[in-house]
Amino acid sequence: MNEPPVGGETDYSSYLRIDRLLELQNELSPGAEDELLFIIVHQVYELWFKLILHELEGARAALFAAKPWGANRRLARAVAVEELLVEQLKVLETMSPESFYEFRDPLAPASGFQSVQFREIEALSGGLGASPGAVERRSEADRARLGARAAEPTLWQACLAALSAHGLIEGEGDEAVLRAVAALYESHEEPVQASFHELFERLLDHDEVVARWRYHHMLMAAREIGRRPGTGGSLGVGYLSRTLDKRFFPLLWEVRSLL
Ligand code: HEM
Repeated sequence: MNEPPVGGETDYSSYLRIDRLLELQNELSPGAEDELLFIIVHQVYELWFKLILHELEGARAALFAAKPWGANRRLARAVAVEELLVEQLKVLETMSPESFYEFRDPLAPASGFQSVQFREIEALSGGLGASPGAVERRSEADRARLGARAAEPTLWQACLAALSAHGLIEGEGDEAVLRAVAALYESHEEPVQASFHELFERLLDHDEVVARWRYHHMLMAAREIGRRPGTGGSLGVGYLSRTLDKRFFPLLWEVRSLL
């Protein structure tokens, strides 16, 4: 079936394209017990990444429309999904290193490292990218997609536009932003202040849960491959340990010291 079904003529499998979905797991090492697990876990990640991007784009649009209350529910959903993504690492941790080595070699140079959607989430949130120490091999189409995303405004820029639209920021530069954010933490009785206060907390949730994912993913990698290099060509766990301090919204962490 190539065409999506028309409304009123659909059933569960045709609406959700289940037949196509279940054809997408192609093992490179037939007979390796855990390769199906490995493929499904990565595919599920990519589906959730797609939804996270949709929610972050929605939040950014609400902020450019000066409606922080509209951004908050979208961010809350993105964070709820991200919590699942941390939890989901446990499913992969049921795989033993020996079982991984039954199918690992033919995968190289494929690695989650090349996930375009993960880098898009980073770009949309705070403009981060790969840490030095590994070369990202990408197709031209993927590079074009990432280039387009990197040219878009970030969530943080949208946040500043919304603060300014509500007259809640005076002056320019990090000091002015820090003062404005601190003021909203100290006093948020008015509905619009309360919405911004909640917005900052949801953004911090997003930042924190991604940082927790980085840490747990690094431990999982250590458990599976020890000190071996990654399939993506980096040092492996040594590379991942250098990504742990990445934060999307450093000012929201900094403001804590002023309260
Ligand atoms: C057995 C399971 C896994 C192992 C051993 C593993 C290992 C690694 C290693 C060593 C790297 C560093 C780059 C490289 O040289 O490859 C990496 C990067 C990465 N992996 Fe995994 N990984 C696993 C599963 C996953 C899963 C399920 C995802 C979900 C999509 C994922 C997403 C990523 C991402 C996004 C990066 C880039 C991180 C950054 O540069 O900040 N990995 N992984």
